[in-house]
Amino acid sequence: CGIVAYVGHRPARDAVLAGLRRLEYRGYDSAGIAVLNGARVDVRRKAGALGNLEAVLRDEPLPGSTTGIGHTRWATHGAPTDGNAHPHIDCTGTLAVVHNGVIENHAALHAELADAGHVFRSQTDTEVIAHLLEAELDVRAGVPESPAVAGGQPPDGGPAPSGRQEGGGGRDPAEFAAALRRVCRRLSGSFSIVAIHRDFPGVVVGARRNSPLVVGRGENEAFLASDVAAFIAATRQAVEIGQDCVVLLTSDRLDVTDFEGNPTQGRAYHVDWDASAAEKGGYDYFMLKEIAEQPDAVAATLLGRLGRDGTLTLDETRLDSRVFAEIDKIVVVACGSAYHAGLIAKYAIEHWAGLPCEVELASEFRYRDPILDRQSLVIAISQSGETLDTLMAVQHAREMGARVLAICNTLGATIPRESDAVLYTRAGPEIGVAATKTFLTQLVAVFLVALYLAQSRGTKYGDEVAAVVRELALMPGKVAAVLDTMDPVRAIARELADASTVLFLGRHVGYPVALEGALKLKELAYMHAEGFAAGELKHGPIALIEKGLPVVVVMPPYVGRSVLHDKLLANLQEIRARGAFTIVVAEEGDEAVVPYADRLVPIPAVPTLLQPLVAIVPLQVFACELAVARGNDVDRPRNLAKSVTVE
Ligand code: G6P
Repeated sequence: CGIVAYVGHRPARDAVLAGLRRLEYRGYDSAGIAVLNGARVDVRRKAGALGNLEAVLRDEPLPGSTTGIGHTRWATHGAPTDGNAHPHIDCTGTLAVVHNGVIENHAALHAELADAGHVFRSQTDTEVIAHLLEAELDVRAGVPESPAVAGGQPPDGGPAPSGRQEGGGGRDPAEFAAALRRVCRRLSGSFSIVAIHRDFPGVVVGARRNSPLVVGRGENEAFLASDVAAFIAATRQAVEIGQDCVVLLTSDRLDVTDFEGNPTQGRAYHVDWDASAAEKGGYDYFMLKEIAEQPDAVAATLLGRLGRDGTLTLDETRLDSRVFAEIDKIVVVACGSAYHAGLIAKYAIEHWAGLPCEVELASEFRYRDPILDRQSLVIAISQSGETLDTLMAVQHAREMGARVLAICNTLGATIPRESDAVLYTRAGPEIGVAATKTFLTQLVAVFLVALYLAQSRGTKYGDEVAAVVRELALMPGKVAAVLDTMDPVRAIARELADASTVLFLGRHVGYPVALEGALKLKELAYMHAEGFAAGELKHGPIALIEKGLPVVVVMPPYVGRSVLHDKLLANLQEIRARGAFTIVVAEEGDEAVVPYADRLVPIPAVPTLLQPLVAIVPLQVFACELAVARGNDVDRPRNLAKSVTVE
């Protein structure tokens, strides 16, 4: 989601709307703006693209107040409707809040607030923040808030009534920040929050934990936003807010504290990107930004689902846990990169959960006679949730009596709506056509499902499962470590920019990684690229090897940990002997491959089944760099669409 707040000398609605336009890439399923209007806040919000909100603002303009907040949403809790769009207000309409992230304990807080008489208007987790803040400000003020009176007060930008003006003997702005700190101490999960309140004109408060928030400081005006893109047209003076901090912002004042109220410093810096790069967070392409976001996307998808004791919670899927005990077979259906995630799911499900698992291209599935019944669980993987082939497969499976679990990145999309259950990945919006961060989060989701099945069915791999759950928690850091070492991979890509064919080899879970690496190269670099199961090499593909042919080899964990290491090492020697130019992706410290690698790409050691999470990253970077070197637009590759809604 994208957040922007403004305090200054101009109408906030204009400054906020301009910011939202630049943040639209962060989410575009609904948008909203709130500004102070004397004794109340005025809110306009609308489902759909930002244009819908702009139409509402033309029909019902907001007043010219100089304090306001806005939001462009990528739904996580609650469908993308007008009512779930941010900003959210408290019971009396005296304050408004926007939020990015997930409040994990929202159900408990909701129950507590409802018992205390708070009336909720949306299905979002965000609304609890508005009511908590209302409760905190009411209690501490010692006086009940008076109900909002429409048009009863001049805008906060105009002459404010005495006692309401900042520092004018009314409520001290520090009270607002203190209330937000108390609220933050009660929240678990990830969040960036921004709020305004009619008793604090000219003041915006904000908070962050594991979700971005940055201050922009201009001439007699200031911004608080998810990223600098929101305010770069107005100012390039930015202040980064640290983890677990609360901000109090006026047009000329910035106070930052931790959640306990201890003063801290933000990091001030000058933004020197050009305005179009700002939307892309300083990257030249969305794809590069999305590759860089993978550690966060993996972390967000794990959030709240891994227990410290090695257990998993997937209650939100809506699937009755008895179903997991009843099923005797799993069929995964998907297209493109999601299909490759499905191929990896097969290894994980069969190993950990001991259940037979088939994986099928969604486009093939319903044109044969798949054998399905009530004991079959079909897992439909689709980042968009709109791919027509996958949707048709879901409908076919349900007609045959199977139950369907969707793995999807888009809240409220058709495939999750038409499935019995859904596990959302939380990669955030992906703009680049070629899947990168959504692929990694699909892998996380299939691992979670496989481990959850193992946990609910009590398989013989129980101890291993608990250990892997702990390892999964380390994966964001391992993916980040891979990203830190990508310069040599980019150099290899530039070296091979004129190649006409690249082959990819892998075994076990390295085989789907090889397929995905080849797909990225086809999609982005328009090159002939093929992935093979290395064991099949001698049954045909080895005939393709000739002097100088680039071959990327994804090595399994090395000797002693995977019996397949020796076999792949033999393949590596075979192709090298025939003149192949070998690019070897192997675990750090894998000395055995060194003599046969023309180029070596080390990746961190991780459990065998989790290796695709780190092994695919260099292949994404490789394809992206090679495509750029060939002059291609990596965000919009020719002939492709992000979401294929035709058969
Ligand atoms: C298109 C995209 C691919 C994606 C595939 C499946 O082909 O270009 O990147 O993997 O669709 O999309 P889905 O939304 O169902 O995951």
